[in-house]
Amino acid sequence: MLHLTLRQLKVFEAVARLSSYSRAAENLHLTQPAVSMQIRQLEEVIGLILFDQLGKKIYLTEAGKELQRYSRSILQQLAEAESVFDDMKGMRHGKLAISVASTASYFMPQLLGQFNKKFPGISLSLNVTNRETLLNQLAHNEMDMAIMGRPPAELDLEAQSFMENPLVIIAPVNHPLANARTVSLARIQQETFLVREQGSGTRIAMERFFTDQNIQLTTGIEMSTNEAIKQAVQAGMGLGILSLHTVALELETRRLVVLDVESFPIRRHWYVVHRQGKRLSTIAQAFKAYLLDESEHLLKSTS
Ligand code: PGA
Repeated sequence: MLHLTLRQLKVFEAVARLSSYSRAAENLHLTQPAVSMQIRQLEEVIGLILFDQLGKKIYLTEAGKELQRYSRSILQQLAEAESVFDDMKGMRHGKLAISVASTASYFMPQLLGQFNKKFPGISLSLNVTNRETLLNQLAHNEMDMAIMGRPPAELDLEAQSFMENPLVIIAPVNHPLANARTVSLARIQQETFLVREQGSGTRIAMERFFTDQNIQLTTGIEMSTNEAIKQAVQAGMGLGILSLHTVALELETRRLVVLDVESFPIRRHWYVVHRQGKRLSTIAQAFKAYLLDESEHLLKSTS
């Protein structure tokens, strides 16, 4: 049996996550020597070095990577135990941690806000991240649930769709096609498109759509946020394909228009996702039920 303490694991987890002794110390309200000492003790107990130092940077060794995997799941188990006890105390004081793909950040705060009004005592955290990190978090069971546009087949996940996610073609208001009706895909092929980064759900859906239609798009600059694409489209650098959720404000204020193009919008859905067989806390169950029952209606009534 390894004689290590939970405190050492927590310190290790923070150093590994932040790749820095000093930031881990800050994060945990400890001094840097205290953090270094905990790591040294942990290395002694395990009998292996956990971090390599190259210049100012530190890197996990093979042993460090193994320990990171175990410490994540041990700490997650503890968080789950905590939420079971919260459940026993009722819905008054629990925690709910949701991670969302970047596009979902356009509507999730609103939904969480409504939910929070019903259960004001709970503490909510919303982590907005890219798809790759989201998949990593799901694989390591690091949050209660994730909201994403396309659950991956390769992980063992439970996913339910709760709302439509139409992808539309956006253009600046003075674009020659701004007022055209049912523009053909052949005409669209002549345009340049600004695209999201590899790995974005929006990008994957867009590529799949045009491949199915046998259309080769001309793509311009690749950008990693919806905001950057909207700005670039307004600046006349090309057209964009984005979720309708991201452009509500620009459409309302007439900074952008949605083009009327054949076969558009691309019809997608938002999914609430967690690991198969995950033990959801009472609060997480309530939030999931709330999403499945009320999201379309709530967003319509507030938009
Ligand atoms: P994303 O959106 O493009 O921001 O990754 C999520 C998705 O649509 O899957």
